[in-house]
Amino acid sequence: MSVTFRVPLYFFLLSLSALKGQTRYLEENEITPEGLFSLLNSELKRELSEDFIYRRPLRCLDMLATDGQFTFAADRPQLNCAAFFIGEPNEMISIAYDNVNIDCDGGDFIKVFDGWVMKGEKFPSSQDHPLPLYERYIDFCETGSVRRVVRSSQNVAMIFFRIHNAESGFSITVKKLLNPFPCNIISQTPEGSFTMVIPQQHKNCSFSIIYPVEIQIAELSLGHFNDFPVKRVVPGCAGAGDFVELLGGNGVDTSKMFPVADLCYSFSGPAQMKIGCENTVVRMVSSGKFVNRVTFQYRLLDRSELQKIKGNNVEDFCFTE
Ligand SMILES: *[C@@H]1O[C@H](CO)[C@@H](O)[C@H](O)[C@H]1NC(C)=O
Repeated sequence: MSVTFRVPLYFFLLSLSALKGQTRYLEENEITPEGLFSLLNSELKRELSEDFIYRRPLRCLDMLATDGQFTFAADRPQLNCAAFFIGEPNEMISIAYDNVNIDCDGGDFIKVFDGWVMKGEKFPSSQDHPLPLYERYIDFCETGSVRRVVRSSQNVAMIFFRIHNAESGFSITVKKLLNPFPCNIISQTPEGSFTMVIPQQHKNCSFSIIYPVEIQIAELSLGHFNDFPVKRVVPGCAGAGDFVELLGGNGVDTSKMFPVADLCYSFSGPAQMKIGCENTVVRMVSSGKFVNRVTFQYRLLDRSELQKIKGNNVEDFCFTE
């Protein structure tokens, strides 16, 4: 990850809130994504030898993109903590406890979440995640085993933790594992490129960029067989079992975002679109009958581009305040 983060031009308050009924507490932290990603920015990419383990303290609000061992030691009650983990698109996160000294009976907890929760919304959305929601929370106090390794289903994961007593704490080892079939992804950076492939599987995959960006789709291939084109004559993609949608919105749950464009026929050659939202998503819906593939690149919109979109009534749904 070699990234230069430009200052996002918008506010994206995010609070971490765990599901009512699912958990016995409510998390109410607030941070801007600028704040979140600047935590990451302070983390230098290191070229390390294989057997060197990177170690550092974990903060109550933290963001990590590197492998290593991270230790949290409470110096006072810390009731609302969260650490976000992110890997490259083709990676999954594994989290192992090295030692844990918390008072589960006294209300302390550490929970791993398979995904991210921001502003009360989850990524991947419940619709797109392979596991039911309750299986995505793994509570140390309920599973109780230090030996247990938790592995995420995509390139993001997080932990929530609450510790009442000073001198309590824990250590975790975080590793990135190769994900041969990446599906749902959050981009670490406001610019990059990606090819998403769903090989004859009945599932939906989303690539999320938490920045206002221009997306340029270089190639879209829906359907493997030339004699059975997926091309529609009707306008829109109604009835298409295979398509790509561009979504814009201000949260991370793709099921709550606005469709900006639907693409349900194959093409090659650039098609681009500027989306002035806090979150931009390329989502592929796949029936399982075809090999579907989309290649795209994206870059951050600058201030003047954002102003221009803001003035345009057609595309301004993200700016309604
Ligand atoms: C994929 O998304 C479409 C439309 O959003 C939905 O109708 C379909 O049930 C989803 N498929 C799966 C496997 O979740």
